[in-house]
Amino acid sequence: MDKYISIKDLEEAAFAILPKAAKDYYKSGATDEFTLGENKRAFQRLRIRPKCLMGITYFDLQTTVLGETVSMPVGISPTAMQRMAHPDGETANVKAAQAEGVIYTLSTISTSSIEEVAEAAPKAIKWFQLYIYNDREVTRRLVMRAEKAGFKAIALTVDTPIFGLRRADVRNKFTLPRHLKLANFDGHLSTKIHSTGEGSGLNNYVNNLFDKSLTWEEVTWLKSITKLPIVAKGILRGDDAIKAVKAGCSGILVSNHGARQLDGVAATIEALPEVVEAVKNYNVEVYLDGGVSNGSDVYKALALGARMVFVGRPALWGLAVGGEDGVRRMLGIFRNELEYTLQIAGTPTVADITRDMIRHESEYSK
Ligand code: FNR
Repeated sequence: MDKYISIKDLEEAAFAILPKAAKDYYKSGATDEFTLGENKRAFQRLRIRPKCLMGITYFDLQTTVLGETVSMPVGISPTAMQRMAHPDGETANVKAAQAEGVIYTLSTISTSSIEEVAEAAPKAIKWFQLYIYNDREVTRRLVMRAEKAGFKAIALTVDTPIFGLRRADVRNKFTLPRHLKLANFDGHLSTKIHSTGEGSGLNNYVNNLFDKSLTWEEVTWLKSITKLPIVAKGILRGDDAIKAVKAGCSGILVSNHGARQLDGVAATIEALPEVVEAVKNYNVEVYLDGGVSNGSDVYKALALGARMVFVGRPALWGLAVGGEDGVRRMLGIFRNELEYTLQIAGTPTVADITRDMIRHESEYSK
């Protein structure tokens, strides 16, 4: 794995390995993919302002998230159907998270079950990402199983009344390969995704089975069936963040679903300050995902008030390249780059990374 020294290296290697339909599914954004590029470009428009001669004698990347200690402020976002990237799929990914001491989030529509993932990495800090099915009994059972299997939080995805339009999936008539199934389910909920028809098989599955009539009252219902903390995943506005908190969420994940839902929305790093400001007087943690590709990006998100960041695609690239070792390499690259960034910026701990450490590029041209 030593030859991969950047996330870009892993991405390029993964592109050379993955079958076309899986590669297209993993890398695509919604429609014209403007926001997909913006998620990365918006990070580049921010500049770090290092402090000199800070007497750096140590550094510490550790932080806590919902009361759990993590080894660094980078976790793994839920991405569906990881066995398309590697035969061990989610189980390899969660083992890497366990070994590296970071959070792993399992998707509802995974190709390894809640129980398989828990068994593969009993000590990992695991969150379960929830899509709410029309059938509430199906949904309730998922939450119960995650709680029983030792997952620590429910990440409720709030940005998906229907699935976004991803043109490559429509062209490829994307379906899950026959030898795989959605492992959290039996019967048609598990295999219906194989049905071919017009356009993306995944969109057909989701748009038939997920409940698009959800409101914030669903959080009240969720809280009545589980003691686990709830993280609202997919928030891009301050007023929505307040609604999430008032509904009882303990965390807000500022996310545009990897730019896969609606093109033309803000990059997540642009939306973050509005959300942080809106909830500053509430007892809630704010996180970010979307386009995080190096240690500087993590640093910038922390400076703007994120407690930690999550990465989706980088874990898929690591998984494709080397299973558990590949994901560990991906996390190792972030760790190494963060260690450098914290020390050279003169802020040796996560708590030292304050708002004044970055500035928007436009402020330099005034
Ligand atoms: C996702 N994402 C996602 N989100 C979610 O809530 N449930 C899911 O099942 C999935 N599945 C999924 C599949 C793939 C292939 C991608 C790329 C993304 C969104 C994901 O959790 C996260 O928000 C983004 O991936 C973050 O952006 P980056 O890190 O991929 O740029």
